[in-house]
Amino acid sequence: MSAFRHKHLLSIHGLTPVEIESLLDRADSYVTHNRETANKKKNLLHGCTVTNLFFEHSTRTRTSFELAGKRLGADVINMPMATSSMSKGETLIDTAVTLNAMHLDVLVVRHPDSGAVTLLAEKVNCAVINGGDGTHEHPTQALLDALTIRRRMGRLAGLIVAICGDILHSRVARSNICLLNIMGARVRVVAPQTLLPTGIESLGVERHHDMRTGLRGADIVMMLRVQNERMSGHFIPSIREYFSFFGLDYAKLSVMKPDALIMHPGPMNRGFEIESDVADDVERSVIREQVEMGVAVRMAVLDILIHNQRK
Ligand code: NCD
Repeated sequence: MSAFRHKHLLSIHGLTPVEIESLLDRADSYVTHNRETANKKKNLLHGCTVTNLFFEHSTRTRTSFELAGKRLGADVINMPMATSSMSKGETLIDTAVTLNAMHLDVLVVRHPDSGAVTLLAEKVNCAVINGGDGTHEHPTQALLDALTIRRRMGRLAGLIVAICGDILHSRVARSNICLLNIMGARVRVVAPQTLLPTGIESLGVERHHDMRTGLRGADIVMMLRVQNERMSGHFIPSIREYFSFFGLDYAKLSVMKPDALIMHPGPMNRGFEIESDVADDVERSVIREQVEMGVAVRMAVLDILIHNQRK
């Protein structure tokens, strides 16, 4: 039994600490399972259908949902949206109604518009997981980040986490700010003026425009990609200037706690927001571990949502 009783996972906003802990506990058990067992396949979700509906590019999220579903014995279908009827003018709602008629169990949706996944969830009978909607939320990314931190640091409460870079366009930042606040961590956001939304302090974060003050004494740094595809116009003067002020290198890292962790949700732009050697630092970078946690978190979410449906 899990304390998470919802039908869908659309956002981190609105979850309780107990619900988050229970998702993380279940995911933790899958980390052990994935590491220890030669035969990784379980048949817990045998006969269930998980469909990936991705309207935006994805490597990690789509693949890890596919792997998570398959490891639990579900049938997984990837809808190639570029060749779907939406490219012929069908609306999102008509697509949803069509998919609904096929009696799916879980729909994992990524969409460029904020709110589109919630709208779709209202039109279908199956469970819906938000795989990232516009600049709004990316709940499974925040959960996998939390699991990575909890396993390394033993806790989330009381840690100082600096989220740096393109906060304005980042659903990863929004979900992480929300989760970290719920779990009692202290969040700082560090970015140039142009990449920080006005009024961000109302989300319960400290605002910084200088990496030295933003990173000082922090336990964790989460670097974000500059999301050119969501920008109209220019938000930064040049890559070289951005890197010198906001790119993570060893000099900037030196003001953090000595055992501070380096995180990045990927995809990374080496030499733009993060120096290549820092990203690959085996002592401090947990970027690959985040990917591993992603599979375990998605197994936990699929398992719990399908169980909730069966009740
Ligand atoms: C992120 C996303 O799609 O929001 N990537 C991911 O899911 N790991 C971040 C990004 O695209 O920069």
